[in-house]
Formats: sequence, C-alpha cells, structure tokens
Amino acid sequence: MTTIFRLDASIRDEGSVTRAVATSLESALLADAPDTKVLRRDIARDPLPSTAWANALRGFPIPVDERTAGQREALALATELGDELAQADAFIFAIPMYNFGIPPHVKAWIDVLMTDPRLSPRGTKPMAGKPAYLVLARGGTYGAGTPREGWDHATEWLKLILGTIWSLDLTVIETELTVAHLNPALADVHELAAQNLERSHAAATEHGTALAERLKEAEAA
Ligand SMILES: Cc1cc2nc3c(=O)[nH]c(=O)nc-3n(C[C@H](O)[C@H](O)[C@H](O)COP(=O)(O)O)c2cc1C
Repeated sequence: MTTIFRLDASIRDEGSVTRAVATSLESALLADAPDTKVLRRDIARDPLPSTAWANALRGFPIPVDERTAGQREALALATELGDELAQADAFIFAIPMYNFGIPPHVKAWIDVLMTDPRLSPRGTKPMAGKPAYLVLARGGTYGAGTPREGWDHATEWLKLILGTIWSLDLTVIETELTVAHLNPALADVHELAAQNLERSHAAATEHGTALAERLKEAEAA
C-alpha cells in the first residue's frame, strides 16, 4: 500500500492557508488513489517536548544502559519520527512563516529528526528521490525589488533541509499576501492576494493528480 506523510504546522485551525492548500493536494491525490494511507503529524497541535533535541544529542554517544530516562525517551522519539518519514512514499509539508522564519515547533521537529543517523547531513537518506511538496504561506511579500527582499529566512532553509540534506524531489507551492485582505490600507493588492491563493489551490490540485499517477506507476514497476 502507498503511504504519504503529511506534516501540518499552522497554529490556526480555521482559516489556515497552508492547511487548506495541503488539503487540496491531498484530496486530488485521494480522488485518484483512494487506497493511499495518509500518515499525519500535526506539530502545532502536538509539539515535541523542548528537551527532546538536547537529550537525544547527549544520549546518542552514551552506551545504552548508561543513558538517562530522558535520553532514552528522546532517542526513541527521534527513531519514531524517522520511521514515519522512512516508510512514506511521498510527503506534504504545510508550513507557515512566523516572525520572518519557520515556526519554532518545525525547527524542533527537524532538529530531533537530524539526531537520527539516517537523517543527519551525512545520513543514509532513506527518502532520496521521493516526491515531496512544501506548501508555504506568508502574510507579506519578499520577492526581488520589494521593500522586504531578503527578509524571508524560512523558504531557503526549508529547501536546504528537505531538498539538499534529505534529497527529496521537492516542489514548492507558496502563497504570499495571505493576510492582505485584513488590511484596508492594502486594498490595491487584495485582488492579487486572491489570485495568489486561487493559483496555489489550482497548483496543489494539479500536483495531487500527478502524484497519484506517479505513485501508481512506481507501485506497478
Ligand atoms: C505570530 C505570527 C507571526 C507572523 N509573522 C509573519 C512574518 O514575519 N512575515 C509574514 O509575511 N507573515 C507573517 N505572519 C503571517 C502568516 O505567515 C500568515 O498568516 C500565513 O498565512 C500563516 O499560515 P496559515 O494561513 O497556514 O495559518 C505571521 C503570523 C503570525 C500568527
């Protein structure tokens, strides 16, 4: 059976753009491949313990019977998270921008995962070449020539981890200006913001359909 892993990270349940766009992709995939299993981890609703990363790092080089209970728990958590990724055939990562970077619970999740020898920068890369979709949303706009060009410290970092370090076959679906409609002073970009959102849903649906095809072909091969 084909399995996809979906990560959600928005602190919003209602009105979340990343959740909604990721769902467009997932729904299109399931429409064509209804037997697909979706393995979900919502790290906004269930964040990892803040002590897990340091405990896993400190515990790793220590002989098993000398590890503290916290170190054993943290290393078991890293393995559990790593297994979730290693067993999946495709991935959806739905991640908002907060304070010009990634959410702290996403950083914590990735840091713990990178203590798993499979997923460290010199790891065995169990997900190499598998299809992955990074669904991003940000309230502002950071493109070339905009006043805040260079202030987006989320996108390139996530591409580095997912695409370069973990070697996923990564596609980015990004939506900008997601909060423009709340600000009457930005009335001149309201239409552009609505178009951005519409385009992201259309792209997500298209990618979901293509992913179903790709996974079917991979299963048949
Ligand atoms: C605490 C907080 C901080 C934010 N910081 C930024 C920011 O630095 N830059 C930006 O463009 N948008 C920022 N936003 C807006 C979010 O990126 C935007 O609302 C996005 O759509 C959130 O994802 P979601 O729709 O899936 O919840 C912030 C939102 C919150 C709640």
